[in-house]
Amino acid sequence: MDKLISSWYKDQSLPESLQIPFTCKTWQASCSKVQHRAGNLSHDRTLVVQQILKASQEFGFFQVINHGVSEDLMNDTMNVFKEFFELPAEDKADLYSEEFNRPCKLYTSSANYDGDKVHLWRDSLRHPCHPLEECIKIWPQKPTRYREIVAAYSIEAKKLGSRILDLISEGLGLDLGYFGDKLSESVVISVNHYPPCPDPSLTLGIAKHCDPSLLTILLQGDVFGLQVLNDGKWIGVEPLHNAFVVNIGHQLEVVSNNRLKGAEHRVVTNSTVARTTAAIFLNPSEDCIVEPAKS
Ligand code: OGA
Ligand code: NI
Repeated sequence: MDKLISSWYKDQSLPESLQIPFTCKTWQASCSKVQHRAGNLSHDRTLVVQQILKASQEFGFFQVINHGVSEDLMNDTMNVFKEFFELPAEDKADLYSEEFNRPCKLYTSSANYDGDKVHLWRDSLRHPCHPLEECIKIWPQKPTRYREIVAAYSIEAKKLGSRILDLISEGLGLDLGYFGDKLSESVVISVNHYPPCPDPSLTLGIAKHCDPSLLTILLQGDVFGLQVLNDGKWIGVEPLHNAFVVNIGHQLEVVSNNRLKGAEHRVVTNSTVARTTAAIFLNPSEDCIVEPAKS
């Protein structure tokens, strides 16, 4: 529990164990701030399908606006996650775990703290969201509205994910509902909290990775930090108010036989404001065979 960055960052300078062992002084300055919008889901469907396909092939990432998830629910969700990380340590102690497989857990850096070469500047809360009736019982009980709000949010995020997957299946020429069943059955949320960092040039919030999901739906809030690798250059994903950032995961790369791209991305830190984000991972169920679509 004492390892959580939120527990100590105000009292000490940046420990060496969190310093990335190469110079990265320019990683914020060098990243161009480009945004790629997939468009409005209520516009002409064919156009949206084309835009999503194009963004998924070129960038592996896009942002969606006018997605139908209410602004109030998005704000309540973000606020309850921020409140969670602000809770006194004793209210979170039971959830803290370094056990790799614990289903609902609060941890720091990565799921494998002892195996990390360098620790990351983030605390994270992760738990499954589906089937709701079963997994809600292991979710945090504080803040008091956590379960109610996150339940509503995870249902909406899964619905949005399914709509986007339908548009993607249309674009790939697959049957409608191709991704609807086993391929997107598992839903996991990962809530990331990146406190202000004394020297952002020496740390990363999350190191370069590609999501192992089918599709990821990220609520990134209003604070910048996410960068996507494109053609050897890091592109900043500028926060758009009330937008979701959507990215293609490894599983979708496989099903699409590499037509869609799971792009590498990372998170940089900043020295002024805390950043909280929530990634919903739609994953294939464990008993599901993932292979390039036959058609
Ligand atoms: C992730 C991730 C990005 C962010 O959780 O896999 O890439 O901005 N998060 O927090
Ligand atoms: Ni990611």
